[in-house]
Amino acid sequence: MTQIDTWANIQNEEDVMNDHHAPFWRAMIRQMDEKDIQNRTVLDFGCNQGGFLRTLFRIKPFKKGLGVDLAVKSLNTAQKLKGNMPLQYETPDILDNMAAEFDLAFSHDVIYLLPDLDEHARKIRHVLKTGGVYYAATGCYSEMPLWPIWKKEVESYSNVPVPDYSINDFANAFWKAGFDVAIQKCIPEGFVNCWQGRQKYFPQVTDFLKYYDYKIIFRFSKQG
Ligand SMILES: C[S@@+](CC[C@H](N)C(=O)[O-])C[C@H]1O[C@@H](n2cnc3c(N)ncnc32)[C@H](O)[C@@H]1O
Repeated sequence: MTQIDTWANIQNEEDVMNDHHAPFWRAMIRQMDEKDIQNRTVLDFGCNQGGFLRTLFRIKPFKKGLGVDLAVKSLNTAQKLKGNMPLQYETPDILDNMAAEFDLAFSHDVIYLLPDLDEHARKIRHVLKTGGVYYAATGCYSEMPLWPIWKKEVESYSNVPVPDYSINDFANAFWKAGFDVAIQKCIPEGFVNCWQGRQKYFPQVTDFLKYYDYKIIFRFSKQG
């Protein structure tokens, strides 16, 4: 796919994303089945500025991590922020030359933006080792009650088209590619900031709580 500078064409949307997503990154890390990943290699698909892998490494250190994204300016930021962590950030075409490289893959709020879910599932299958696991979290799909207003909002600043998937479309693509599919709700720990300017995403304060019924983590495990 064509590279872009940043995913959002409004800098503020790009910048606030880390703060808004961090509670869900921590939830994914807390809720994943694997406790000790010290010897594992990890992929973050759609890594943006790299915050998920840095958070994962601080909580559960791993051997090596790769973040891929279409947004090259965001990758540069990720590169600058990685410090001494064993992390690499690249555009997704690097995956074309990789096979059975990763024990674990993750994506947070990325699968709903992908134009071809079957192709994505095949790619993840190709780069995962046998028995490898892909955790993909999102709340953006047609069954989520706030999705119609979110879709319009996201389309107003996204530099990639925004499809309109059902939650079943995600599962179907991964079944078709030879994965077992499991699911749970992605619940942030503790209090979550009801941020100023929330109205365009969460018109009522109670919408924050309702959203947690729909924010889900898929666990796609690669079968032999
Ligand atoms: C909503 S942001 C989420 C970013 C990050 N995962 C997080 O949790 O903050 C979606 C990201 O997916 C990236 N993205 C969109 N389409 C992509 C594609 N086809 N391949 C790789 N990355 C893509 C965007 O550039 C953007 O950084």
